[in-house]
Amino acid sequence: MKTRIKDILQSSGDGREITVEGWIRTKRDSKSVCFMEVTDGSCLKNLQVIIDKNVFDLTREIEKISTGASVVIQGKLVASPGKNQNVELQGHKIKILGESPEDYPLQKKRHSFEFLREIAHLRPRTNTIAAVSRVRNALSFGIHKFFQENGFIYVHTPLISASDAEGAGEMFQVTTLDLENPPKAQGKVDYTKDFFGKKANLTVSGQLEAEIYATALKNVYTFGPTFRAENSNTSRHLAEFWMIEPEMAFCTLEGDMNTAEEFLKYILSYTMETCTEDMEFFDKFIQKGLLESLTHVKETSFTHITYTEAVRELEKASAKFDFPISWGKDLQSEHEKYLTEIVFNGPVIVTDYPKGIKAFYMKLNDDGKTVRAMDVLVPRLGEIIGGSERENDYAKLLTRLHELHLNEKDYWWYLDLRKYGSVPHSGFGLGFERIVQYVTGMQNIRDVIPFPRTVKTAEF
Ligand code: 4AD
Ligand code: MG
Repeated sequence: MKTRIKDILQSSGDGREITVEGWIRTKRDSKSVCFMEVTDGSCLKNLQVIIDKNVFDLTREIEKISTGASVVIQGKLVASPGKNQNVELQGHKIKILGESPEDYPLQKKRHSFEFLREIAHLRPRTNTIAAVSRVRNALSFGIHKFFQENGFIYVHTPLISASDAEGAGEMFQVTTLDLENPPKAQGKVDYTKDFFGKKANLTVSGQLEAEIYATALKNVYTFGPTFRAENSNTSRHLAEFWMIEPEMAFCTLEGDMNTAEEFLKYILSYTMETCTEDMEFFDKFIQKGLLESLTHVKETSFTHITYTEAVRELEKASAKFDFPISWGKDLQSEHEKYLTEIVFNGPVIVTDYPKGIKAFYMKLNDDGKTVRAMDVLVPRLGEIIGGSERENDYAKLLTRLHELHLNEKDYWWYLDLRKYGSVPHSGFGLGFERIVQYVTGMQNIRDVIPFPRTVKTAEF
């Protein structure tokens, strides 16, 4: 393996000979000396390279070098007299692999995130998007680590599915039929002629399949892409996003909430410990006070409140909401922010929502009106986790499917789980991009996924 700049910067400048590969960030050239900053994306800091032009005849190479060019530089790693770095490279051999002409869009000035989205093929070369990528990587590893250390089995649930896991009808259809001229039977499209012999979609959640494996392996989790054709053009919605969904058998809502809290605290700690430099960058340039607020979250217990209590809090609020709230209505992000930022100043777990605003699979409470749902809300973002205890009573689940006009034939296998060895079980879903947003302080969800898919955009 070759040396990464991250490791070079942490080593000592003992005069050894090394070779560095990377891209030029800046070049300052004078008659006798040339300074360059080189990055390879392994860390936030660049490696400073100095060429003594009086000793090495590299004028021709240096002339061709500009911001964005890819280079291989050989030199001596020495202690740096400068205060910004411990070591620097005294270069004596340069190979330019790819020049970067003047129209390279990422010159010195800071660009808006909107502009960077238009050049998604180049934006990971900026400090912010590179830092987001490293934090995203650490978070995903930390997530697997948490579950693996706690005995959860990673299950790969399908991306193509014939059932609507959330029962909300917000799905992208998957078909090989000719849309201009589909086969018809009795005036309707004949899906028996389609690839799967029936209508199929991209999955909105791996939960239902995770339940199958939880009722065999006890504790499982999925971590994969999900797709939602919701027409929400907001800073926290994507049409394609990644979701982490643990599912636990022999577990009620209390166990579910405890796991969610422990899990969030674990991944926060893991990321703050492994990405210190990037996290300081976000704290300084993206969201002031980020580290302090995340540390506070790690160290304090989450607030618990029922939906009914939450609505009462909101009704007595002096703040004016765009969407007036009353019992039975879903909480909007403005309400979630009010609860977490103004009332409780930290994460809040809201439970026992009205059944009418939650999915069919949630366990009905004895009051017959609310379900054993829980949403974890956090400051700045609102909902980050949605979960519940599942209805494990065959008859009650069937009634619910009927009430919602869902076709029980589509859910026959899901009903079977309630027929054979049914067990209390619970789980939740964490939106991966939402947690990346939360941890980095990035305002827009489109900037924490490499290639965002949203309404009317899928360029790359
Ligand atoms: O609340 P949701 O819809 O819950 C489920 O899908 C359940 N099946 C989870 C479970 O119990 N296994 O979605 C879960 C989370 C949300 O809290 C949110 O963080 C994220 O997924 N999410 C989205 N993230 C980005 N873009 C979207 N369009 C999202 N929709 C949901
Ligand atoms: Mg939800």
